Amino acid sequence: MQGVARNFFVLAIAYAICGMILGVHMGMSHDHSPMPVHAHVMVAGWLMSAVFAFFYHLFPAARETRLAQVHFWLTAVSGVTLVVSLFFLLGGNEALEPVTGISSLGFLAAMILFAWIALPVVRRA
Ligand code: HEM
Ligand code: HEM
Repeated sequence: MQGVARNFFVLAIAYAICGMILGVHMGMSHDHSPMPVHAHVMVAGWLMSAVFAFFYHLFPAARETRLAQVHFWLTAVSGVTLVVSLFFLLGGNEALEPVTGISSLGFLAAMILFAWIALPVVRRA
């Protein structure tokens, strides 16, 4: 794996380890209040990043564009900001709500960018 594909794979593994540590902590403490954080870290983090990694691995032409770099950084920065701010928001820090909201929009924008990158590549293949 190279370039953006490898970046997404490393990000996926980091999400999986952090999300599982949080899951184990939730189980041991019997405090499931961070469940939405765990769910998004595991599914929107680990699983989605792994899908992006394998997509860019299978379609090398797509990963060599500058847009693919923008897609990686927008997904990584908005996704990590989303789950970290959601963790503290659920912990009672309500001032973080705008940060969670803006990072959600960034994460959505990254997905729309991925559609723009991936659909023409898949249609040509
Ligand atoms: C070390 C492994 C894991 C532990 C200890 C763990 C623990 C937990 C716990 C305690 C909950 C809360 C359940 C509840 O309150 O109803 C939960 C929910 C959840 N977990 Fe995990 N989990 C693990 C791995 C995973 C993995 C690998 C995934 C997905 C790839 C995942 C996805 C989810 C999702 C989506 C929910 C929310 C389910 C719902 O909406 O009811 N978890 N997990
Ligand atoms: C723009 C980004 C997203 C926003 C703003 C968002 C928002 C939400 C909200 C408000 C809930 C309900 C939480 C609750 O009732 O406690 C939720 C649940 C959930 N979302 Fe998302 N979501 C986003 C992206 C995603 C993505 C990309 C995935 C999967 C690939 C996903 C998977 C889930 C799952 C599995 C649940 C149920 C777990 C739970 O109840 O905590 N979400 N999401």
